Amino acid sequence: MSGQSPKRLLTLAPALAALMVFAAACSAKAPQTTLKPKGPKAETINNLINPIFAVAAVVFVLILGGALFVAIKFRAKDDDDFDAFPEQVHGNFKLEIGWTILPAVILGLVGMLTVVTIFDLARKPDPKTAIQVEVYGQQWWWEYRYDVNHDGKYDEIITANDLVIPAGKEISLHIKARDVIHSWWAPALNGKKDAVPGRTHPLTIQADKPGEYIGQCTEFCGLSHAEMRIKVVAITDQEFTSWTIEQQKPFANPTAEAAVRGWSAFAGQCTTCHRINAMTDPGSAKNPVDAAKIYKYRSVVNQVSGAAPNLTHFMSRDMFAGGKFNLRKNTPACNKLGYDWAKTKDGIKDCLNRTDLEAWLRNSPAQKAMKPGAVPSTMSRGMPNFNLTEDQIDDLVAFLTTLK
Ligand code: CUA
Repeated sequence: MSGQSPKRLLTLAPALAALMVFAAACSAKAPQTTLKPKGPKAETINNLINPIFAVAAVVFVLILGGALFVAIKFRAKDDDDFDAFPEQVHGNFKLEIGWTILPAVILGLVGMLTVVTIFDLARKPDPKTAIQVEVYGQQWWWEYRYDVNHDGKYDEIITANDLVIPAGKEISLHIKARDVIHSWWAPALNGKKDAVPGRTHPLTIQADKPGEYIGQCTEFCGLSHAEMRIKVVAITDQEFTSWTIEQQKPFANPTAEAAVRGWSAFAGQCTTCHRINAMTDPGSAKNPVDAAKIYKYRSVVNQVSGAAPNLTHFMSRDMFAGGKFNLRKNTPACNKLGYDWAKTKDGIKDCLNRTDLEAWLRNSPAQKAMKPGAVPSTMSRGMPNFNLTEDQIDDLVAFLTTLK
């Protein structure tokens, strides 16, 4: 054994180095790395990680290097006296003071930097000027409700999956949960924050530049936990202003034949859970009085059912089904169209991810990790299988694509 170990270590070294290079290469395109901050809050965290990592690396190298050096240099040799004790250092005043004070100083420094960072992250932006968004975690998607006019009510915009924000501005998130504990995390913009039922947890995010920042739920919250994704879409100030105006527009009656049929199917089944702001009954044109009776609750502005996403501006999103699927095809040409891809000429024709959307309507429990064969009464959460016909699915897609 003796004499073998150093050699073995030497042969292992290149393999370890190769592994490190390989691991580093893996992270080059990782959108969820914490090491590439894209906003001041994440930058603040990174500024804590870097010095602490440096200190830890020095300690690691010194301790392990020292242990390795001692183990190799003073390893037992055949002519050693195995009964002899090595030199004892117990009671060595200078050494003992040294290895007590040095770690205390290092930990004191780390603690100081950490406390400063925590206070920095806890600082909230001015509630009168910063954009306020309520974030609801729920099995298994995120809802975002905006207080655009700062009246304390989060009812102007209700959307899901994509969180749209203006770049370069501080955004105040108020994180809540409707069922179990979730955790909201977009690593490029800030650290994690738990969404706990009955509580509101504040989190401030800011993106330096327009772009898409990927995240996910990071607290196990049930079968589809891994499919509860987050996408923060940062756009310019001007784009955000027009986005907020568009998002506050109510439902507009579709006119195309298939879309009108889809509207009927939607009003008949989907409105049990989904909401469309100010949606009227498809038959209202013919019989407005009856329609008002049956659908009166649907004409209220901005409704939250608490069960499923509000779909008023469904096509303005990039993702659906809790972010498991892209609504917009993920091709360079479609990505180039940006956040309002569906409004561009041929945007829907060329870039709608029709395959996954139809599959979702056909049998959504099969698309997500839910109870096999689940029916609404036995399923805790999630869209059930409505056994729609292919014609109904085509009509519903035609209807959904009008919700821009
Ligand atoms: Cu929600 Cu995990």
